Amino acid sequence: MASATMLASAARRLEGKVALITGGASGIGKATAKLFAQHGARLVIADIQDKVGSAVCEKLNTQTKATYVHCDVTNEPDVEKAVDAAVDRYGKLDIMFNNAGVIGSPVIPILQSDKSNFEKVMSVNVTGCYLGTKHAARVMIPARRGSIISTASVASIEPGITPVAYTSSKHAVLGIMRSAAAELGPYSIRVNCVSPNVLPTPLAAEALQIKETELEQAMEDKAVLKGLGLTKDDVAYAALYLASDESKYISGLNLLIDGAFSVTNPSFGVF
Ligand SMILES: NC(=O)c1ccc[n+]([C@@H]2O[C@H](COP(=O)([O-])OP(=O)(O)OC[C@H]3O[C@@H](n4cnc5c(N)ncnc54)[C@H](O)[C@@H]3O)[C@@H](O)[C@H]2O)c1
Repeated sequence: MASATMLASAARRLEGKVALITGGASGIGKATAKLFAQHGARLVIADIQDKVGSAVCEKLNTQTKATYVHCDVTNEPDVEKAVDAAVDRYGKLDIMFNNAGVIGSPVIPILQSDKSNFEKVMSVNVTGCYLGTKHAARVMIPARRGSIISTASVASIEPGITPVAYTSSKHAVLGIMRSAAAELGPYSIRVNCVSPNVLPTPLAAEALQIKETELEQAMEDKAVLKGLGLTKDDVAYAALYLASDESKYISGLNLLIDGAFSVTNPSFGVF
């Protein structure tokens, strides 16, 4: 039977840990920051939306210690400083959540896409994830512990849902995660991805050119798992699991949060 101490620590699954969340001012990052704070983590929120990001931190500060840093994830000195801010303020970095991302454009055919947009998406989604992983590893290797989580997407394994740049970028995020899982395993550092299907956030609304409120119904119509509705909190809970010691032997995983969407071929339509 679980002891009272075990139950208490299970209730606060990140007690004593320090987490850095990129793209923490909005959507999935903000929901994850809130959940991590409830579970006892001290936080650094890194984003380019300074006003909104600072306001998120102010709210979180009633519950935990949270610091906002301006950080463009495509800029190496910014990422370096964000990681150093976690170590300077809280003494260490246990959890790196590479979550910042952009869609770049609505879903358009490749012939309507342009090179500069392709490069911008790759820069935020891929270079950002690479820099976050690199600088987290820089401080986690000497500590010989850490959990690095990146937000990929169902587009990391399923083409045809998002524009070519976004799909390519999320395939690459998977590559960074797998490469780092192999390389950092000897230092007891775990590296994983969370990969949600489309869910209502500003990014998804931009991709599909509809309001966030309309997105819920649109996705319910396409869902395999009906009546439950994928939310930001579902992604936050998956990240919480990968961040906590409960997943201590899990590394190299692309955790799909898609209600069986990516394993179901709808062409027969038997169900
Ligand atoms: N919403 C979805 O349907 C969905 C599905 C799968 C994966 N994702 C992924 O989830 C992650 C979070 O997206 P979201 O849906 O919460 O969108 P969002 O737009 O609500 O949040 C993205 C955040 O990233 C920040 N950001 C953008 N460029 C940045 C940069 N250069 N440096 C630092 N921060 C930057 C934005 O300011 C914003 O706060 C992204 O990686 C996205 O690709 C989203």
